[in-house]
This record gives sequence, C-alpha cells and structure tokens, in this order.
Amino acid sequence: MVDKVRVGFVGCGGIARQHLKSLVKNPHAELASFCDINIERARITAEKYGSESSLTFDDAEEMFDSVRLDAAYFCIPPYAHGVEMEAVKRDIPFFVEKPVNLYLDQAERIMRAVEERKLLTSVGYMNRYRRGVQLVREVLREDPPILILGGWIGRPPSPEAPIFKWWIRKEKSGGQFHEQVTHTVDLVRFICGEISEVQAYPARGFNRGMPPTYNIEDASVVNLKLENGAIGNLWASCSSLGGGGGVSLNIYSNRTTALFKGWDHSLRLLRAGEEPEDIPGEPNIFEIEDEAFIEAVREGDPSRVMCQYADGVETLRVTLAANLSMETGKPVKVR
Ligand SMILES: NC(=O)c1ccc[n+]([C@@H]2O[C@H](COP(=O)([O-])OP(=O)(O)OC[C@H]3O[C@@H](n4cnc5c(N)ncnc54)[C@H](O)[C@@H]3O)[C@@H](O)[C@H]2O)c1
Repeated sequence: MVDKVRVGFVGCGGIARQHLKSLVKNPHAELASFCDINIERARITAEKYGSESSLTFDDAEEMFDSVRLDAAYFCIPPYAHGVEMEAVKRDIPFFVEKPVNLYLDQAERIMRAVEERKLLTSVGYMNRYRRGVQLVREVLREDPPILILGGWIGRPPSPEAPIFKWWIRKEKSGGQFHEQVTHTVDLVRFICGEISEVQAYPARGFNRGMPPTYNIEDASVVNLKLENGAIGNLWASCSSLGGGGGVSLNIYSNRTTALFKGWDHSLRLLRAGEEPEDIPGEPNIFEIEDEAFIEAVREGDPSRVMCQYADGVETLRVTLAANLSMETGKPVKVR
C-alpha cells in the first residue's frame, strides 16, 4: 500500500481549488505538481497548496513526462478533454470532473483504454456519496420510482468569473443541461436506473444583458423515459434573476416521496404511514469524495469509488442526447 499518494493536477481553476482545500488536509496525499495552460494560475495554485518541491507546468504531457505521479486530477472544462490519455498511457489512476467530455467518441476512446488497462478512475459526481442519496437508492429498490422531477434554476455565472467565457459558449460547455444538470441526470441514473430515451425543448433569446458570444439556451426542459418504465422531467434555467429557483430533485414512488433540495441535496423522505425523515446534506462532500479516491488508490481498491469513468460516460450519453433533441425537436434513444 502506498503511504502518500503523489498527485498531479491538470487544470487549476475553481473546482481544482475545492479539491485542493480537502487534499491539503489529507495526510495520505502529496500535491506534487500543477499544470494549467495559464501558467500563472498553476504557479499561484502551487504556492497556495503545494510544497517547496511542487513543480508547475503549462503542458500536461510535459508534466506526466517529468514527474512521478501515483494519481492525477483533471479539472478542466468540457471542451478541453482528451489529455486524460497522458495518464492512461502511463497507467496512472485519475479523477476527472463532470461532465467527462463534450464529445462522445473521444470519451468512448478514453473509456476503452481505461478498461483495457483496468485503470482506477473516479468521476466528480460527488452527490453519489451523500447519505440521503444512498438511503433513497436503497428504499426505491423495493418500491420503484414512478415520477421524477428536478433540475437547476438560477442565473448565469458572474461575467467576472473565469468560467464565464467558456460557460456561455455552447461549443465549449455544452450548455447548462450538459454542464450543470448533469449532476441531476447522474443522480437519476444512480438512484432510479438507466434512462432509455429523452425529448427536450430549449428556450432562447430571453436572457438580457448577455454579450454577443452568449449562445447557450436560457432554459430547457428534458423529458425522460427510464428502462424500468418510470418517467421524468428535468429542467435547467440560467435566466431566472428573480430568484426562487435552486436545485431540486423529487422522486415519487408508490409509497415513498424523496425530496432533495439545494446544492447539498438535503433530503426530506416521506413514507406512507411513517413520520417524515430529514437528512441534511453533507457540507464537506468534496472532502468525502476525495478521501474515497485517495484511499482507493492507496489500497488499489476501486470499490471505494462511487462513479468510475465508464459510468460517467453513461451520464454523458444522456446529456448529449438531450442536446441533440434540443436541435432536432425529436425524441432521442439513449440505449
Ligand atoms: N463537481 C462540481 O460540483 C463542479 C463544480 C464546478 C465545476 N465543475 C466542473 O469542473 C470543470 C472545470 O470547471 P472550473 O469551474 O474549475 O473551470 P475554470 O475555468 O475555473 O478552470 C479550468 C482550468 O482549466 C485550465 N485548462 C483548460 N484546458 C487545459 C488543459 N488542456 N491543460 C491544463 N489546463 C487546462 C484553464 O486554464 C482553467 O484554469 C468543468 O467541467 C465543470 O463542470 C464541477
């Protein structure tokens, strides 16, 4: 068993910092190297979270060639994937943020290479680690879901945020459903089972004050058919400045209602003939997710990880199918 897992980061932006905040506290992680195409960002991140021996790079291939690593984190935008192959080629286990890609063919190539090499991977669907999520998954095994409603309603990121430039471009982020509501799609798959078909409608042209480069949907609704016969409707809005939206996922079965609310997915569980049960969402969910990955690498035990690469690709299929349906106006089969 490795005592200290030597970690290299590819992408040193917003979400990388969330993982770094938890990894610096983890006695079994050593932050060995930082790579960002914006070298200044890599340097600032290394100064804040690294040690004197940490190295910085602006090219992932060079980092993997120069540093001995036990694990890598890919915290890059949806359009920028493909560099995972640098870790795969060298048999280095990796963590990758959601969504795993913007292009299905590239994701499938990475998936096949990962499977050939039996590489340990983890995808950043951190909500799978929540106690409330796991409880509902268990309960619904006996009492199958029938109707699923949920999504994210909010505003676009602030124009000052570094993500703004790529987030508002459809060909970079994939749009809000692909980039953000992917969390909810993944939870639906995890809790309720596989999605077989989607049908989506976009709304465009309402979000005032956006730069001319803004070309994502202001809102979308996506109908779901599940393999087990359940149905659902998920939504996204980044045009609701008045508030009152937020994150939600409500699942209704014959005898159970699971109401997840907010970013932390706090749960109110209602069961016929029983008292309601409330399970607050874990505020330190990135810490829980990162610890599971580091322990999995140390022990060489993938069972610690709740979403591996191939599973992340299944969620990708659904959000890309929804994007296709937004274009064609037709239902799209996922599997
Ligand atoms: N799990 C979550 O809740 C969560 C939250 C936020 C973001 N994310 C996901 O994380 C990903 C990144 O988001 P972010 O908010 O950190 O974006 P960001 O723009 O803040 O950071 C991305 C960084 O990646 C760098 N980069 C791009 N291509 C690169 C490459 N080829 N090599 C090295 N560096 C490269 C950019 O220069 C930038 O610094 C997105 O897919 C996003 O959906 C997940």
